[in-house]
Amino acid sequence: VKTASVEAIQPEASDEDIEAAIDRFGPNWVVKDDGLAAGKGVVVTKDRAEALEHAKAVLAAGNPVLLESFLDGPEVSLFCLVDGETVVPLLPAQDHKRVGNNDEGPNTGGMGAYSPLSWLPEGATERIVTEVCEPVAREVAACGCPFQGLLYAGLAWGEDGPAVIEFNCRFGDPETQAVLALLESPVAQLLNAAATGTLADFGPLSWRDGYALTVVLAAEGYPVSTRTGDVIEGAEPGREADGILHAGTARNAAGELVSAGGRVLNVI
Ligand code: GLY
Repeated sequence: VKTASVEAIQPEASDEDIEAAIDRFGPNWVVKDDGLAAGKGVVVTKDRAEALEHAKAVLAAGNPVLLESFLDGPEVSLFCLVDGETVVPLLPAQDHKRVGNNDEGPNTGGMGAYSPLSWLPEGATERIVTEVCEPVAREVAACGCPFQGLLYAGLAWGEDGPAVIEFNCRFGDPETQAVLALLESPVAQLLNAAATGTLADFGPLSWRDGYALTVVLAAEGYPVSTRTGDVIEGAEPGREADGILHAGTARNAAGELVSAGGRVLNVI
């Protein structure tokens, strides 16, 4: 399976070293902050100056920078429950990360997602499981550190099939809202099976027919300079059945519902 090639730049690198590293990549640059950045640490750009600027900003803040080769093809998120060596995939989903109409804005933690992916070839999920997720589970188990939890494979689906962009060991946001909206099997029992090493006995998952799509309502200015405190109408808590899920919301002193984070609400 293809993976992105990665090179790290350390904060103490000279300007010449940074420029030379940038020139080993392109014409699409993927520049990542090697630190926690709430999903906003990566810049994907065809503009060398923008790539360089992001790299220098991250290094100046004291974090290493990761340069990654650009993997072409639509993105796929596949969440798998793992209890050591048994891997149970959920439905594949696709996240849409750029803010603004027509994907013109900067990268975010995710502005919307849908599931399942009708354009994926038949057998794609099984291929990702056998070529990507099971080998990872086997390898970490062989290293004496079996993984139990949620393995999130972030992939690009290219001409030759899956290529790995990244792994997370958590659910992904906002894909989870779409995926779990379709899951009929009891999620708590599924998580319990992962936690107790009984996934192999869980049986096939049951899914609703059709599709689920979630759209994120973000705060003004997100992700660059998020404005909070804006009053929200028409989305009082308790409307989960209408597909409204709260994320970055709070009450102000007057008891009004207000925005309190970058990604404010999900509407499914
Ligand atoms: N949707 C991207 C993430 O959760 O990292």
